[in-house]
Amino acid sequence: MTKKILITGGAGFIGSHVVRRMVTKYPQYHIYNLDKLTYAGNLKNLTDIEDKPNYTFIKGDIVDEEFIMKLFEDYKFDGVIHLAAESHVDRSISNPNAFIYANINGTVNLLNAFRHIWSDNFAEKLFYHISTDEVYGSLGETGFFTEDTAYDPRSPYSASKASSDHLVRAYQHTFNLPTVISNCSNNYGAYQFPEKLIPLAINNIKNNKTIPVYGKGENIRDWLWVNDHAAAIDLIFHKGRVGETYNIGGNNEWKNIDLIRLLCNIMDEKLGREKGASSKLITFVKDRAGHDMRYAIDSSKIQQELGWTPSVDFEQGLRNTVDWYLENEQWLKDVTSGAYQNYYKDQYDNR
Ligand code: NAD
Ligand code: TYD
Repeated sequence: MTKKILITGGAGFIGSHVVRRMVTKYPQYHIYNLDKLTYAGNLKNLTDIEDKPNYTFIKGDIVDEEFIMKLFEDYKFDGVIHLAAESHVDRSISNPNAFIYANINGTVNLLNAFRHIWSDNFAEKLFYHISTDEVYGSLGETGFFTEDTAYDPRSPYSASKASSDHLVRAYQHTFNLPTVISNCSNNYGAYQFPEKLIPLAINNIKNNKTIPVYGKGENIRDWLWVNDHAAAIDLIFHKGRVGETYNIGGNNEWKNIDLIRLLCNIMDEKLGREKGASSKLITFVKDRAGHDMRYAIDSSKIQQELGWTPSVDFEQGLRNTVDWYLENEQWLKDVTSGAYQNYYKDQYDNR
């Protein structure tokens, strides 16, 4: 029998890679992609699979309690992979409430509806919640986040994600809901909205605009190619132990300024510019409020238990990502016209 899998946030960056993978690899599943199509959701991320017979797009808001309950009653989803969220830290600083509604209330609505349709009879069912390493807080120069690291979220974004993680665990403990959670480090790759560091820098370099580096550029992130995250999600969904948490990371730490310099060199080469031309665009700007210094993931649990490892060397992944953005000029133009211009002005003018 066909299994019905709901993927929320499937028109966003990571979600679109997960939808593509699941639709293509598992014809025995019917994949339902539920997305509100906020500024970050874009059906053009999925044009190559939109006509597949095992794929259905549903436009809707996870914050709408009645709509979600009715949707679950109508479709009786066997599995949920929940990615829909407000996802950008800077936006959570300007407008925290949107994050509370979508990330906390939205998650609870999905948990309630999943519980309701299966009346606590959960054989062969799974609710998989996708989260971030940012829930663990900020590291000093040494150490790594493990699955046992105490939560210490420090931005409205990470606090809302931490809250949703706690609620998922509470439903597992209190109602025996079959849940699994993964917490991943920073992703990069095709289809990422150019508010995040790497695509924003690519777009600016391409257009000869300054590259805004917060503070001194010394903050460190652990970067993972988005398709490797999608592969980990696939593996956890099928083989992860119910009730468990898995950390996913690239074992690939970069200081922002070093990453930007590498990106500038790649862009010089790809655009046929003189070596060093793009790095002249680097501009140090006012730091992000509450800026976490370092994230680094210990992913030994998923590596040892499920045999997952990152597949792509970072420099190669970055080169492929640059190629994708340069080849998909219209996609980039479409998402950076209109509302993006106002966003950019608000965030970066007078910074
Ligand atoms: P994104 O912002 O690109 O996409 C989010 C998607 O969710 C969009 O398509 C948007 O339209 C949809 N959405 C937002 N609010 C909604 C609502 N109320 N109802 C229905 N749909 C809604 O985000 P992303 O980078 O793809 O992240 C996806 C998930 O992965 C998030 O839960 C995020 O916390 C998590 N995550 C992201 C990263 C990263 O580096 N981007 C790392 C670890 C975890
Ligand atoms: P971002 O892509 O927003 O991801 P996150 O904050 O979730 O890690 O930012 C990655 C790093 O780059 C982070 O340390 C903030 C920094 N940054 C800049 O220096 N300039 C920018 O314009 C942006 C968007 C981010």
